[in-house]
Amino acid sequence: MQTTVVVQALEEIDVDALVVVSFDKDSAGGGLGDGAAKRVDATIGWLSELYASGEFKGKSLETALLHRPPTFKARRLAAIGAGKPEKLTTAEVRKIAGAALRFLKPKGVHTIALALDEAFAGPASVAAAIEGAILGDYEPDQYKTDKSDAGRIDSYTLLVPAVDAAIEAAARRAAIVAESQNYARALATEPGNAMTPTILADRARAMAVEQGLECEVLDRARMEQLGMGALLGVAQGSNEPPYLIVVRYRPEGSEGAGTHLALVGKAVTFDSGGISIKPSDKMDLMKFDMAGGAAVLGAMRAIAQLKPALTVTGFVPAVENMPGGRAQRPGDIVKTLSGKTVEVVNTDAEGRMILADAMTYARNLGCTHIVDAATLTGAIVVALGDIYTGLFPSEDAFASRVAAAAEAAGEKMWRMPVDDEYKEALKSTYADLPNVGNRKGGAITAAMFLKEFTSGAPWVHLDIAGTAWLDDAKPYLAKGPSGAPVRTLVRLATSWNG
Ligand code: BES
Ligand code: MN
Ligand code: ZN
Repeated sequence: MQTTVVVQALEEIDVDALVVVSFDKDSAGGGLGDGAAKRVDATIGWLSELYASGEFKGKSLETALLHRPPTFKARRLAAIGAGKPEKLTTAEVRKIAGAALRFLKPKGVHTIALALDEAFAGPASVAAAIEGAILGDYEPDQYKTDKSDAGRIDSYTLLVPAVDAAIEAAARRAAIVAESQNYARALATEPGNAMTPTILADRARAMAVEQGLECEVLDRARMEQLGMGALLGVAQGSNEPPYLIVVRYRPEGSEGAGTHLALVGKAVTFDSGGISIKPSDKMDLMKFDMAGGAAVLGAMRAIAQLKPALTVTGFVPAVENMPGGRAQRPGDIVKTLSGKTVEVVNTDAEGRMILADAMTYARNLGCTHIVDAATLTGAIVVALGDIYTGLFPSEDAFASRVAAAAEAAGEKMWRMPVDDEYKEALKSTYADLPNVGNRKGGAITAAMFLKEFTSGAPWVHLDIAGTAWLDDAKPYLAKGPSGAPVRTLVRLATSWNG
């Protein structure tokens, strides 16, 4: 889908569907606002009649459609509800754009224009409208032979009152970020048989070549040599060889001084639970257990194009967790790269094992700050559902930085406690640490475990087990992988300055 931002008269735009934003009918001007909706209504009276009939109230994401509008070159006019104008945030603009596109896409519409009124046509709104449309356009249908039901949008045009350099930059940036988020979603959509650690490593290499990033892939022999006993222990029950994928971005002219941000993403290409096997109900969802790794690769893809001023390295430990004959047993004790020993009380708590070695490796390579993204615990799904990502920080300053990036990127995150009192639950009789606590505060004890492998660096753990996958479609997003938290990771890197 091609996206453009133009200044053009509403009547003149030659598209299959022209979308105008209409507000709650109890707001100023009876919901018509002071832009495109008002202009359309002044010309053909369509919207005031819709409001008067009660068929359309201008509530958030409500839609209406008119074919062959007189005096307009567009073949259709569509209205999208935006609720109360004073509540029109950039997050709402993102939803409006996505919902309008998803409303029109299955209707044989191939070209869309969305008019942004003066009150919400600045760089932030333009960016949100482009992100919303590109994200809304994504369908997890790479394996459908007949894709005709979903439809196809070729071009998407934003009509704005004026364009300047800031708007153009915001539009370019938004397209890069949203396409990278869709890239991550496409990786997470792949089923376990088509997304093994080997295939993920191949995809990462191809992406790195395309984007001009360095990529290094550590194989089993190398990881044995280094002593990554935790990661290798998880991998040993599968016939699929494990890899640690490392993707590097270096800003021009920097010799690696100062901040070196590590983005670490859990990539269990399928999580059966291992010998502590999961129940079969919904086990198919566990193909998404590499969503953190996919998000890190997606973020690196965007970072390569946006070129922030700090060094960023992506670490993606990729394994399959299977109960094969060589699988690790509950009770096994492994030695991590850090030197700490871990008792594998539950083989289904595998994510923290692979992250532990990947984070130690990141620190050994000189990373100063760590953010990890992982579909780590069912407990965070119980706590926060699929709306908020759990944000577990090691310290306030870095927590605020990541939270600000999430806020600016429009991804909801909720700060969770990382408190040493929870470490009481992490006691092993035989090793330095067990890999699980008791049932209480499961998402927090998982974070406490990870913190043991940060060697004091500022660190934020993002538990995306609830937010990386949508069980049901939203009006502005298909069901399936959401691509969280790609936008936050990119925003964190690009807003660093210093
Ligand atoms: N990948 C799962 C977490 C998960 C569970 C994500 C459900 C999405 C939905 C993780 O590897 C896991 O199995 N965690 C266990 C930990 C437990 C054994 C301490 C869990 O949450 O049940
Ligand atoms: Mn598991
Ligand atoms: Zn898992």
